[in-house]
Amino acid sequence: MSATTPPVATIETLDQYAGQTVELRGWVHNRTSKGKLHFVTLRDGTGYVQCVLKKNAVGDELFDEIGGASQESSLILQGEVRADDRAPGGFEIAVASGRVLQSTTDFPITPKEHGTDFLLSRRHLWLRSRRQWAILRVRSAIMFALRRFFDERGYVCIDSPIFTPSACEGTSTLFEVDYFDEKAYLTQSGQLYAEASAMAFGKVYTFGPTFRAEKSKTRRHLTEFWMLEPEIAFGTLEDVIQLAEDMMVSVVGEVLERRRTELDVLERDISKLEKVTGGFPRITYDDASKLLLANPESTFVEGDDFGAMDEEFLAAQHDQPLVITHYPKDVKAFYMKEAPEDPTRVLAMDIIGPEGAGELVGGSQREEDLDVLLASIAKHELPMEEFQWYLDLRRFGSVPHGGFGLGLERLVRWLTGVEHIREVSPFPRMMTRIRP
Ligand code: 4AD
Ligand code: MG
Repeated sequence: MSATTPPVATIETLDQYAGQTVELRGWVHNRTSKGKLHFVTLRDGTGYVQCVLKKNAVGDELFDEIGGASQESSLILQGEVRADDRAPGGFEIAVASGRVLQSTTDFPITPKEHGTDFLLSRRHLWLRSRRQWAILRVRSAIMFALRRFFDERGYVCIDSPIFTPSACEGTSTLFEVDYFDEKAYLTQSGQLYAEASAMAFGKVYTFGPTFRAEKSKTRRHLTEFWMLEPEIAFGTLEDVIQLAEDMMVSVVGEVLERRRTELDVLERDISKLEKVTGGFPRITYDDASKLLLANPESTFVEGDDFGAMDEEFLAAQHDQPLVITHYPKDVKAFYMKEAPEDPTRVLAMDIIGPEGAGELVGGSQREEDLDVLLASIAKHELPMEEFQWYLDLRRFGSVPHGGFGLGLERLVRWLTGVEHIREVSPFPRMMTRIRP
C-alpha cells in the first residue's frame, strides 16, 4: 500500500469524511448492475450505503469480480464520499479501488419473505438483515441509556449471581441445575442480592440475565431474559414508582434522540413514544378490578392476579405506561411489605406499557420486619434455611427499602414496536428453542 492509504471509515460516521476518499469494509447487502455500472448497497454493521462502481474507474478485474459477488460477499472498497440528497443517509461512495475477500453465493436469507421458524433456525445469519440490525441497535442503546441513568443518579452496579440455592419469584418456574453434589437453580431475579447490596451501598442496581422455566408460549415470554433491578435503602413504594417513571422517560428520550434511523427502518410510530413525558397514570388494584368487572369481555375473577388481556384493557385507556398498585398479598411474592392500612394488600406496583406492551416493570417496598417476613416465608413454604442470610438483613440494621425489576426485552419490544419478543433478543431462548 502507498503512503496515501485512505482512512478506514464506518458508514455511521461518513458525514465526517464528505469529499474525502475512505476505505469501507463490509458485506454486499444488495447489488444491481446496469451496463458498465454496479450499484452495491454495502453494510458494515454501522449502517448501509450505496457504492457506485464505474467500469472505467475501477478497472475490468474488480468490476467483473463485483459483478459476480452476490448477497453477503465480503469486500473492502476505497472511494470518495459524495454528499447526495437522494441517497439514504445522505452520502454515496464513488468507488476507485477495492477487493472482494470472499465471493458468496446462495445466502439463505434473501429479501423475499421467509417463515419465522426458518429464520430462527438461521438466527446467526438472520442478524445481518436490516430489521434485526435496527432492533438490536435500539436494544444496545437502551442498555446504555439505562446504565447511564442509574450511574448519573449515584447508583452502584452490583452484579448478583446466576447460580442460586433458592427461589425468589415462586417455585414453579425454576430451572434446576446440578451443582456438584447439590441442586442449584438459575436465578429468577437478582433482587435478594440487590437488597443485601443496598444495605451496604445505599442505592444499587443489578443488570443481567435471569431465567424462568415459563411453559407459556406467548409473545412476551422468554426463558432467558435480562432484568435491571434497582434497590433503594430507605426507599418507599412512592420512591420506587417515581424512579421507574423517571427511568422510562429518560430512556425513551435517549432512544428517540440516538436511534431515530433505526426506528424509521422499523416504521415505528414515533408520535406514540413522544407522549411518554412523565406523570404516569396510576390506579389501585381494587379500582382496576372494578373496571374489569364492569367490562363484559373480561374473564377477571376478583382477588386474582390480572391476566395479559386484563392488563391490555386497562393500559389501552392511556398513552403513557399505567402504574397499578396495592395488589392482594396472596397473588404476590413473599418479600412484599403489607400495606399499613390493609394487611390483605401489599405495597406493590406493576407498570403496564401502552400499545399492548404488557407488564414492563414489577416492584415493591420490601417487608423489613423480621417476624412478618418469617411468617411469610413459612406461608409460602420456602426453605427457611436458605433464607437465613436474607433474614440477617432484617436482624442487623433493618430499614425500609424497595426496588423494582425491569424486563429489558419487554422494554425493547415496546419501544421498537416489534410484535414478538423473540426478535428483540440476539439469540432468543424459549420453551421450544435453544438453538442456534
Ligand atoms: O415481575 P417480576 O417477576 O419481578 C421480579 O422478579 C422482582 N424480583 C423484581 C424486583 O422487584 N427486583 O419480573 C420483573 C420483570 C417483569 O415486569 C417483566 O418485565 C420481566 O421482568 N419478565 C419477563 N420478561 C421476559 N420473559 C419472561 N419470562 C419474564 N418474566 C418477567
Ligand atoms: Mg411481575
